Amino acid sequence: KKSSGSDLRSPICCILGHVDTGKTKLLDCIRRTNVQEGEAGGITQQIGATYFPTENIRERTRELKADATLKVPGLLVIDTPGHESFTNLRSRGSSLCDIAVLVVDIMHGLEPQTIESLNLLKGRNTEFIVALNKVDRLYGWKSCPNAPIIKAMKQQTNDVKNEFNMRLTQIITEFKEQGLNTALYYKNKEMGETFNIVPTSAISGEGIPDLLLLLVQWAQKTMEDKLTYVDEVQCTVLEVKVIEGLGTTIDVVLVNGLLHEGDQIVVCGMQGPIMTTIRALLTPHPMKELRVKGTYVHHKELKAAQGVKISAQGLEHAIAGTALYVVGPNDDAEHIKAAVMQD
Ligand code: GTP
Ligand code: MG
Ligand code: NA
Repeated sequence: KKSSGSDLRSPICCILGHVDTGKTKLLDCIRRTNVQEGEAGGITQQIGATYFPTENIRERTRELKADATLKVPGLLVIDTPGHESFTNLRSRGSSLCDIAVLVVDIMHGLEPQTIESLNLLKGRNTEFIVALNKVDRLYGWKSCPNAPIIKAMKQQTNDVKNEFNMRLTQIITEFKEQGLNTALYYKNKEMGETFNIVPTSAISGEGIPDLLLLLVQWAQKTMEDKLTYVDEVQCTVLEVKVIEGLGTTIDVVLVNGLLHEGDQIVVCGMQGPIMTTIRALLTPHPMKELRVKGTYVHHKELKAAQGVKISAQGLEHAIAGTALYVVGPNDDAEHIKAAVMQD
């Protein structure tokens, strides 16, 4: 099907890492929300999605003076659980993304689900950036809220810098043992072969501007073809959920194409294909988490990439992790119904 030229869609970025490394907290810091504190036991148990419009990314990266280089409409970020029992959700999240952030706790280094995540990324050849999180826990760290990391580092004593360098060196060695070259992003002379490390704090925000800018720039630079918008719908079901007032809904990630209110869709169901009509096409507000109950924005039409809540009849038995198809005017519905059950 036709593509719309140089029209770029928002990159999809998946956050991966061992449990409690601060994946959700990093997103809370960028969103200025408190999703993590509302989680049962402080553990993420679902895939989430948040849309960051470029104007917000511009605001958060202002000190790095890179305004003109931001070409994509925004960034769609997928949060995943780090608990060992959710391998399937990490796999689903990583299969949807264009780029990833692998979060490592600077006090712990590489842990079992860090390595599992790393193997998922290697398996798909996915570009990623390492967020070396919790730098504020270095003994004597002087907080520089939301500062670029180079500026924050300059404020630190030699003792803090020494502890940082010691832990960084150890973690670079651990990556090497996994067959990967990594380096601090501002010292990386072989971008592309050596993976970038960005030190961050999800509590005081140091390094967040760097992480955001690097993500968007790296995505734009290395995957222009992949990010060129195409009309053909590519869409995956994340969750099936009952919402008061809406009935059973599905949360989806629209990777490419357009969805409209009234579109006829087919999804995979436990008792066979489900053909239904989109009754409402909803998103959370920008910078809000799709998986958290809140107010929704109604849309007549939505363009990829977006995290979307779809309300429609008959979704009770829909299966998460499978593809959603749109039945076009010239499409054979029976053919699509057969295709949907292949997933
Ligand atoms: P799962 O989704 O359950 O795998 O965890 P997560 O990786 O999303 O980590 P989460 O955001 O739940 O944070 C875990 C704990 O670490 C919480 O108590 C956070 O407050 C704390 N934390 C996260 N990031 C930071 C940080 O940068 N500095 C400090 N000091 N604590 C942090
Ligand atoms: Mg989490
Ligand atoms: Na957690």
